[in-house]
Amino acid sequence: MQLNVLVLPGDGIGVEVTREAVRVLKAVADSFGHSLTLNEGLLGGIAIHQRGTPIPDETKELALKADATLLGAVGLPEFDTAPPDKRPERGLLGLRKALGVYANLRPVRSYRSLLDSSPLKNELVEGVDMIIVRELTGGLYYGTPRGISGSGAEERAVNTMTYTRSEIERVAHMAFQLAGRRRKKLTSIDKSNVLENSQLWRRVVTEVGRDYPDIKLDHLLVDNCAMQLVVGPKQFDVLLTENMFGDILSDEGAVLAGSIGMLPSASIGAKAPSGAWIGLYEPVHGSAPDIAGQNKANPLGAVGSIAAMLEYSFGLTEEAIAVNFAIEEVLNSGHVPADLKPADKPASTTEVGDALCRYISERKVPV
Ligand code: IPM
Ligand code: MG
Repeated sequence: MQLNVLVLPGDGIGVEVTREAVRVLKAVADSFGHSLTLNEGLLGGIAIHQRGTPIPDETKELALKADATLLGAVGLPEFDTAPPDKRPERGLLGLRKALGVYANLRPVRSYRSLLDSSPLKNELVEGVDMIIVRELTGGLYYGTPRGISGSGAEERAVNTMTYTRSEIERVAHMAFQLAGRRRKKLTSIDKSNVLENSQLWRRVVTEVGRDYPDIKLDHLLVDNCAMQLVVGPKQFDVLLTENMFGDILSDEGAVLAGSIGMLPSASIGAKAPSGAWIGLYEPVHGSAPDIAGQNKANPLGAVGSIAAMLEYSFGLTEEAIAVNFAIEEVLNSGHVPADLKPADKPASTTEVGDALCRYISERKVPV
């Protein structure tokens, strides 16, 4: 198969983790006989430095032409006080919108060898296997009016949380279909006791649910969900929620996996003429400028995102399984990056990449 992939390393550790993820993708292409065409583009802080904008037109064009895009991370502290359109994060939001990837799938699972990496008790975490479906192109992140106006005591800031019925319906269908391939349980998260936006969300999700009579649908308020994620995370199969709630809850979910460095994500929505998803794949973690350039970052979230790309954008299930097996092999070996708190000397980013490529070329399946 011909795989045309765009890589946007972005900022901070994004550069290091995508480097290893690309090596893994090359190892997969070699082992399984695929031909890989890689392109690289600018997004985020590096794009502001080199092109004066967080999302240059050429990046958008490259992403629209690629079969799939791998993104590292965006964000640099030097832009913390920059105006909104000169912030790295704007680049990421612009890219998500340009690609129309309205459903962000964030799987959260526990790994046996990482149970002690989570601050939660082993028995709470063992067996956790859920997927957060975060709406990605609407809500507070994009709603208008927005902005800061006035001055002195009257200076004010406005953001708007807005959803249309069709925006809710399409992401809800995606979540119900996903639940149908899993344990058939969907929990929709909202704040419908306070927000009209959530009242519409709950009503529309309930209506969409009538098309999926075999899926058990529950609704949960977001504050309660935040608590349930740490007191009883095994109750969840598929969680469906709007953009901002999903952003917050998925970082909380990272505690279950052992480290945010472990979490991959797939953002999908529109389909290519082939029927495959047009996808943007990125680890859930940020650019971590404090450890950038030190060869310390955990590349497994980025590598897991490659597995998701192989599955969703290319339909290469066997290849995706091989990548996920290689991740488990690394974890079982105990030679893992610092964020996973290994007993011995932590593995560097490149050492993890070396091990993954070796496992893939040997196609070892863990016992
Ligand atoms: C994420 C990140 C982004 C988001 C930031 C970097 C804009 O936190 O993907 O979770 O809020 O969506
Ligand atoms: Mg986030």
